Amino acid sequence: MALGVAVVGLGWWGRIIVPLLRTSEKFRVVAGVEVGAAPDLGVPIEKDFEKVLANPAVDAVVLCTPHTLHAEQIIRAARAKKHVFCEKPLSLTRADVVRAVEACNESKVALAVGHEKRFEPPIQEVFRAAKAGELGALLQIEANFSQDKFLSLASDNWRLSGNEAPAGPLTATGIHLLDLSVGLMGRAARVFASVKQLGSQLVNGDTLGVLVSFEKSGNALLSAVLATPFDGRFAVYGSKGWMEVRDKAHPEAPQGWVLTKNLRGKEKETRTYEPAKAVLANLEAFADAVAGRAPYPVPQEEMIANVAALEAIVRSARSGKVEEVQDR
Ligand SMILES: NC(=O)c1ccc[n+]([C@@H]2O[C@H](COP(=O)([O-])OP(=O)(O)OC[C@H]3O[C@@H](n4cnc5c(N)ncnc54)[C@H](O)[C@@H]3O)[C@@H](O)[C@H]2O)c1
Repeated sequence: MALGVAVVGLGWWGRIIVPLLRTSEKFRVVAGVEVGAAPDLGVPIEKDFEKVLANPAVDAVVLCTPHTLHAEQIIRAARAKKHVFCEKPLSLTRADVVRAVEACNESKVALAVGHEKRFEPPIQEVFRAAKAGELGALLQIEANFSQDKFLSLASDNWRLSGNEAPAGPLTATGIHLLDLSVGLMGRAARVFASVKQLGSQLVNGDTLGVLVSFEKSGNALLSAVLATPFDGRFAVYGSKGWMEVRDKAHPEAPQGWVLTKNLRGKEKETRTYEPAKAVLANLEAFADAVAGRAPYPVPQEEMIANVAALEAIVRSARSGKVEEVQDR
């Protein structure tokens, strides 16, 4: 039976998610929540989250609200026995993500996160090859997710606030690269980050560079710029070879990817991937987890490790120093 879903936060991303959910027979969009002006999406829209949590037709919520609201909204939804798909990042501190995960586990509801890059077919091929040992020992990741979608945001938009969206491009795009890096290399041990405002009105920074050093693996060099046209690249170097995924367009409107694989002693291979709906694939994996058809593919330890690394990156961007990642 289709999952009854309420989409919470109907701004940019929420208005993309609602029609996308409607393309899948795994979902029924039954309500929306929006505190600002409500768009006409053909569903009842409440201002009050609690009303939606009290609605028995709502089995699950999809949270597309600003980051600082995520942890408390996950906890409230879990306590009301609603399954939760939450946009990234799940929270801004390790302590909060642990509370959110625990609330979901205590109420036996599923928790999923909006890291759709994990569902892009060429990224899945990189994960498969890396985990099968085809690349040898993983040495280093180089990745970039840049875009210029926020150049015309009003000066009072939450994305320009250092409290709401700390370390500039980190929570917008860099967090997806951090998630993939944690998925391949495990827990981060220490980080160094630099954020600058160089090419836009984005006062909490438009240019982010991060070096992440992993506890039991190599390093990740992450680049996220919000003052240059779209670029997307994820490369993993190993002791037997490397793979690189280049995105043709932003995940909002995918146009496909190019995957290059270069293994020692073999011909370099290049393969083109047709566009795929990774955002929908992630949502459907959530529906499958709720229905018990398959476990959700992002383990909770990785959800926690990702936010713990994010928190250390924010600290490093502020202190200008190398920061340790908390592991408890
Ligand atoms: N996975 C992705 O690729 C992706 C892409 C874009 C945005 N996002 C995530 O989606 C979230 C929202 O981003 P956005 O760009 O859509 O922001 P946005 O500002 O355009 O939209 C957020 C909406 O939430 C509403 N809101 C605020 N407080 C609320 C509350 N208490 N209850 C209900 N609604 C409330 C706001 O009025 C606004 O309409 C962020 O966490 C962001 O990281 C993810």
